[in-house]
Parts: sequence; structure tokens; C-alpha cells
Amino acid sequence: MKSPVRLALLGCGTVGAEVVRLLHEQSADLAARIGAPLEIAGIAVRRIGRDRGDLPVDPALFTTDALGLIKRDDVDVVVEVVGGLEPARSWLLEALRAGKSVVTANKALLAEDGGALHDAAAEGGGDLYYEASVAGAIPLLRPLRESLHGDRVTQVTGIVNGTTNFILSAMHATGAGFAEALEEATELGYAEADPTADVEGFDAAAKAAILASLAFHTRVSAADVHREGITEVTAADMASAKAMGCTIKLLCIAARGADAAGRETISVRVHPALIPLSHPLASVGDAFNAVFIEAEAAGQLMFYGRGAGGAPTASAVLGDVVAVARNRLAGVRAASESAYAALPVRPMGEALTRYHISLDVADRPGVLEAVAGVFARHDVSIATVRQGPSGGGTGDAVLVIVTHVAPDAALAATVDELRGLEIVRSVASVLRVEGGL
Ligand code: NDP
Ligand code: HSE
Repeated sequence: MKSPVRLALLGCGTVGAEVVRLLHEQSADLAARIGAPLEIAGIAVRRIGRDRGDLPVDPALFTTDALGLIKRDDVDVVVEVVGGLEPARSWLLEALRAGKSVVTANKALLAEDGGALHDAAAEGGGDLYYEASVAGAIPLLRPLRESLHGDRVTQVTGIVNGTTNFILSAMHATGAGFAEALEEATELGYAEADPTADVEGFDAAAKAAILASLAFHTRVSAADVHREGITEVTAADMASAKAMGCTIKLLCIAARGADAAGRETISVRVHPALIPLSHPLASVGDAFNAVFIEAEAAGQLMFYGRGAGGAPTASAVLGDVVAVARNRLAGVRAASESAYAALPVRPMGEALTRYHISLDVADRPGVLEAVAGVFARHDVSIATVRQGPSGGGTGDAVLVIVTHVAPDAALAATVDELRGLEIVRSVASVLRVEGGL
């Protein structure tokens, strides 16, 4: 057995406390798998006096001096489970430049500044692992960054936010509206006191950026991701989706494509979308995550599991700790970041999508013709039209139109023109449709 690999743990909250617990409970197995014991050199927290229950760790290890801990010569690996951009960014840059290996669950930081972290890792010669940053316990990033490196990934489609999946699943199951389902998610502890990052899609957008970077060998940041949340999804939208044999999910979609000149590009987007109940992602309920990867040789792959929670996330963190500890003992580092393709990110307007549009309209001769004319003018082909009685809206009837695939800009321009028609009392909702309806 070699001398211990020493860890600086930054953060001891929901995830960090479970990392401590697993390190304690599995210490003998972990040592056997690595070939050396893992030892906690120190734990940086914000409140040193916080009650941490029966955590199996020496209280003398706690410190509020994270930077001092990182700089210690006896620290080999820095495990960051604090979150947020600063001071986490400065800490991790310091650690990586000093040649330490870093394991982090910080999706916000990776999506904002992943490139700088990878550069610092290359400069210092340590590893940068971040499996827990996307979809919690699900082994997803390692398959993308290792197992699928002999293949060409064409699309990644995922449910990567548990809170919104819980809310949308509840709306589907009970007919509840968004506010009611969010209240239930908060009561059950799925949604945070401030749910903005989840329900507005920021959390999913950060994960989409990380997935796209790995899938397409291109640096993609959160700013490159088109983002829409689920706050506008109504009970009526869900009822309409169900009537069509669909449900609504918050999807992250990263896909290869081509621009008008035929150059290869990628598009990365997060938005709610109708998917058929027969699609594998439709049955992902509760707060579970699932990611569907399509690759040229491998075909379709699906990854499913718990995307959040202390223990599931700590499982992914510890998997990374074992990998970087083994690398350090062997005197090697993992393959560097693969960003050679540097593909341009297509603007959302050029993404090819389908729309589901609900219109409150006047019920009189010529209405369908006028509405269809708007679609024709924008070169958008209609797939289906359904007319129903007014559901208490502002018109005499409701028209639900589903389009064929068209550039998003053409679809958006169609909706804008519909809003200006006298016979269209209101555009009640606009949702995208995915998954081969
Ligand atoms: P918590 O809020 O539960 O814990 C944060 C920890 O960081 C606490 O121990 C806190 O100290 C410490 N901390 C905060 N600010 C500082 C500071 N300035 N200096 C030192 N310590 C500080 O967060 P989570 O455990 O939920 O999340 C941690 C990371 O894991 C985040 O990046 C998150 O996005 C990611 N993640 C979380 C998941 C989850 O299910 N919770 C799932 C996947 C990823 P103190 O204890 O004293 O308050
Ligand atoms: N808030 C996130 C979710 C936690 O709901 O999925 C995991 O990143």
C-alpha cells in the first residue's frame, strides 16, 4: 500500500457531507481499489460552528480558510462542492495551476468558464474531473469523454433537471397548473426556496453547455445555449399535449447540423417541448434525469437515474476521486480537454424545430384560410389542425396547429404575424414539438 492520497474538501453541505460519509464507510474498499488510502487533509466551510449531526469526521479538520487549505503541500486533490462562480473559480484555478487534481460538481462554473479551468489543468499537469456536474449519479460524462471517443455523436437529448421534471410530471399526472405543482415540489423538498435557476432553465442550460462541449469537441458556454424555462406552461397546454398522445418535458437538445453554406455547426437549446408518450424520455417521471445520446456507429443510447441528492451526487464525486487518485499514483493524467473541432454554434433562429400553437380565434368563414395563409407566407408547412370550442379564452373557438419542421425564425415570424390578425383574439400558447410525433 502506498502513502495516502490527501484530499482538501471544499464544502460540506448536501453533497459534501455525503462525500465525507462515503469516504468513511468505504475507506477500506476505496484504498484497495486505488492502491493507497484516501485521507481528508481539511474541510473548508463557511460556518465553522454549524451543527453537522453525526458526521464521521474529526471536527479539527474544519476551516474557513479554503485558499490556505488548497495551498498546503500535503494536499494532492481538491474536491469542490461549494458551488457558484466565485470564490470557487479562483480556488480551482489556484489548485490546478499548482498541479493539484480537481474534482468538482460545479456546473455553473464549468458552463461559464470551463475553458479557463481546462487550460489551468493543462498548465499544472493535474486532472480536472466533473462527472457530478451533470445528471448527478448518472455516469454520463465519462462515457462521452472516453467510451464514445471512437464514434461521432450526432445528438444529445436529455431531461437534466429533476425539479422541473417533478413539476411537469405532476402537471401531467394530476392536471395541476404550474404554480400548484411548484408548491408541491417545494413542500417535498425538490424545489429550492428560490427555484429560479431550475424553473427558468438556467441549471439545465449549464448542463447542456457541458454536454455539448464533450459531445462535439467544442468549447460551449452557457451564453451559447438558447434557454426557455417552464413557468409559462399551463394546465391547458398539458391537456392539449395529452389529447395528442404527448406530454411536456423540459428538454436539453444539443445537435450537429449545417448552416446555409453547408458548414458543419451545432445548436444547443433548452426549452419545454411536447414529446410523444411513446418516446423513451416521456416515461421519465418524478425527479429522475435521463439522457438520450445518438451516435453514428453506436446508434441510440439511454442513460437514466437520479440527477440530484446528496448520496447520488457524492457517488459521482467519489468515482472521480478514485480516478484522479489512481492517475496521481501512476504519475499520469487523463487525456486533455478535446476541443479541436471548435464548431460554430448556430443561432436559435436557424435551428430546425416544430411548433404546437394554440390560437383563440373568431369562429366564422375564412378564418382557417387566413390563418393558413400566414403559415404559407413564411414557408411553414402545417401538419395538423384541430378546432375545439373556446375553453374560456378570448375567442369563439380554439385552433391548435402543429407544424412540420421549419427554421425557428420562420416559425417565430409566423406567430408574430398571427398575433396581428383581427380574427386571432390571442395566441394562447406556443410550444415546440420534438421526438418524431
Ligand atoms: P450546499 O449549499 O448544501 O453546501 C455548500 C457548502 O459550501 C456548505 O458546506 C457551505 O458551508 C460551503 N460554503 C459556501 N460558501 C463557502 C465559502 N465562501 N467558503 C467556504 N465554504 C463555503 O450545496 P450542495 O451540496 O447542494 O451543492 C454543492 C455543489 O454540488 C454545487 O455546485 C451544486 O450545483 C452541485 N450539485 C448539487 C446537487 C444536489 O443535489 N445538491 C446535485 C448535483 C450537483 P456551510 O456548511 O458552513 O454552510
Ligand atoms: N436543482 C438541480 C435539479 C439539482 O433539480 O436537477 C441537480 O443539479
